[in-house]
Amino acid sequence: MKLSPFYSSLVHFARRLAEVGVDGLVIFNRFYQPDIDVEALEVIRVNLSNSSELLLRLRWLAILSGRVNASLAVTGGIHTHFDAIKALMAGADAVQMVSALLEHGPEYLRTIQEHLAQWLEEHEYESLEQMRGSMNMQNCPNPSAYERANYMQMLQSWSV
Ligand SMILES: Cc1cc2nc3c(=O)[nH]c(=O)nc-3n(C[C@H](O)[C@H](O)[C@H](O)COP(=O)(O)O)c2cc1C
Repeated sequence: MKLSPFYSSLVHFARRLAEVGVDGLVIFNRFYQPDIDVEALEVIRVNLSNSSELLLRLRWLAILSGRVNASLAVTGGIHTHFDAIKALMAGADAVQMVSALLEHGPEYLRTIQEHLAQWLEEHEYESLEQMRGSMNMQNCPNPSAYERANYMQMLQSWSV
């Protein structure tokens, strides 16, 4: 089931979905977002994603990973092998790509696959499984970084 990010209690909702038989969750749907070209005065229909859109998904993957009895796929903002690595570390069982393939063509998948394999080798990972969930909320060294309250601490210690 492909979820929207707009639920008030996502962990509870995801758990309930798993309880009623949902095997896999896709995080998150990227709703249609037309833009405006102010010079041409046209509505731009296809507005592709970029890697920054992954961050919302990373946080929720990390929070849900290991706590919900369903496999987790990520969609939204996967453009490079680094994006895929981050998603896997946060707990993704699968990553999906649309915008990057529309931009670079389907052969770009091979580039991502090769770069990913090279990165795993350089960093002495023996499998994707070894990496999966290693930086989720349960396994990372600073789990509070995924919590909303951490924003307040960050602002208190912020200096310019
Ligand atoms: C042109 C286009 C058409 C899409 N059509 C659908 C669709 O019919 N159903 C759907 O669930 N998602 C659809 N999506 C959303 C994608 O499946 C995906 O969730 C979204 O593009 C985010 O991933 P990305 O950052 O890799 O593009 C569409 C996306 C694009 C760009």
